[in-house]
Amino acid sequence: MNKFVLTGLILVGAGASLIASPGYAAECSAVIEADDAMRFNPATINVPKSCAQFTVQLKHTGRLPKAAMGHNWVLVKQSDVNGVGRTGMAAGEALDFIDPNDSRVIAHTAIIGAGEASSVTFPVNKLQQGVRYSFLCTFAGHSPIMQGTLSLAP
Ligand code: CO
Repeated sequence: MNKFVLTGLILVGAGASLIASPGYAAECSAVIEADDAMRFNPATINVPKSCAQFTVQLKHTGRLPKAAMGHNWVLVKQSDVNGVGRTGMAAGEALDFIDPNDSRVIAHTAIIGAGEASSVTFPVNKLQQGVRYSFLCTFAGHSPIMQGTLSLAP
């Protein structure tokens, strides 16, 4: 009994020192789910400033195939959401709904369907403090609804 209690205390102590340690690594990745109702979950991402790179993994948790309910994750400045939504839709399926000449696209995954996943890693120094960022899906007709926000955490 005493031994059990002691073990518990040691674990708590180790956890606290890990969090307090200056070398504690921030979470430099996020998993975002997208479903058949055109929702991103979670719809907000905080990117720690201490990360050199940040990875987003998009998972399609719905049942519909790519051709009917395709999703991607496209990072832009909030002010560029409508413009990138338009150029993505115009690029169409052949170009994975991303215009390769649209420099407003900061990072993006591939378009995926049910049961699939796609990841993208981008350098955090592409983000500026105080600028509002959004992510959207540029699949045909999705961008007005399918949006989230991303910010650089201090
Ligand atoms: Co979509």
